[in-house]
Amino acid sequence: MTTTTFSPSTAPASPARRRVVDAPTRVFHWLFALSFLGAYLTADGERFRLLHVTLGYTMAGLLVFRVLYGLLGPRQAGLALLWRKLSGLRPWAQSLKSAVNTTADVDASPAVNWRQGQNLFMALAIVALLVLVLPLTLSGYATYNEWGDVLGGDWIEEVHAFLGDTVLAVVLAHITAIVGLSVLRRKNLAAPMVTGRADGPGPDLAKRNHAWLAALLLGAVLAYWSWEWQQSPQGLISGPALSAAMSGQGDDEDD
Ligand code: HEM
Repeated sequence: MTTTTFSPSTAPASPARRRVVDAPTRVFHWLFALSFLGAYLTADGERFRLLHVTLGYTMAGLLVFRVLYGLLGPRQAGLALLWRKLSGLRPWAQSLKSAVNTTADVDASPAVNWRQGQNLFMALAIVALLVLVLPLTLSGYATYNEWGDVLGGDWIEEVHAFLGDTVLAVVLAHITAIVGLSVLRRKNLAAPMVTGRADGPGPDLAKRNHAWLAALLLGAVLAYWSWEWQQSPQGLISGPALSAAMSGQGDDEDD
């Protein structure tokens, strides 16, 4: 029997890839994204109210998970890293200001680090998404439990709707930045959030994948959804409501 051995020079070269995003962060991200989009689409009317509320509570729970993971988890997923990125905002804004003020004298104008500006924009959008979810879900809770009756007026509901639209605007900015920068840098910046890996040599940024924690998070969210489903007499989406929505009927009954 003959065995084939590859010497280093003949072995097929596989491109270097390193792990940059661990599994819990990725599962958190996609559940968070899905919950927001689902909640936004079901925001109007009574028909999908329970589904909307369930997805809102899911976002609040996911936020708690992310904060705990950011505080107690590995360094690359730490909130401190995000904070450190943002600390460059003030010096960068000052460099931009001096560049604008000295445009008359092009030679004396200090260079603006546009790449850093792009990274700062991405970090800002992420922080805004995480921070805004707190008032968004709190105002949603207050609306659902009709705190407006006690506090007076519809203003809580209006604040909730405004925050929902604001988060949507930030989400669109987040996605546009990822697509735009992927084109600009000729590199798929979204891929690491799916596969966890990015092209390039060097050690893994995320040393361990913590797949068990990701599975636990996914299991907890699925268990919560099925519990909510069983709690509600007609399911999260009632059969008649769904068929009415599909046929586009009954819109007037919502408001
Ligand atoms: C197709 C849609 C989306 C894509 C391709 C995408 C992609 C990404 C990528 C690549 C990052 C990492 C950015 C970085 O490290 O600088 C990220 C982070 C993040 N995205 Fe998205 N995103 C999408 C939709 C959303 C939506 C809808 C939301 C929220 C409602 C969202 C919330 C976040 C948050 C909170 C983070 C920070 C994750 C963490 O570190 O825990 N994303 N996203």
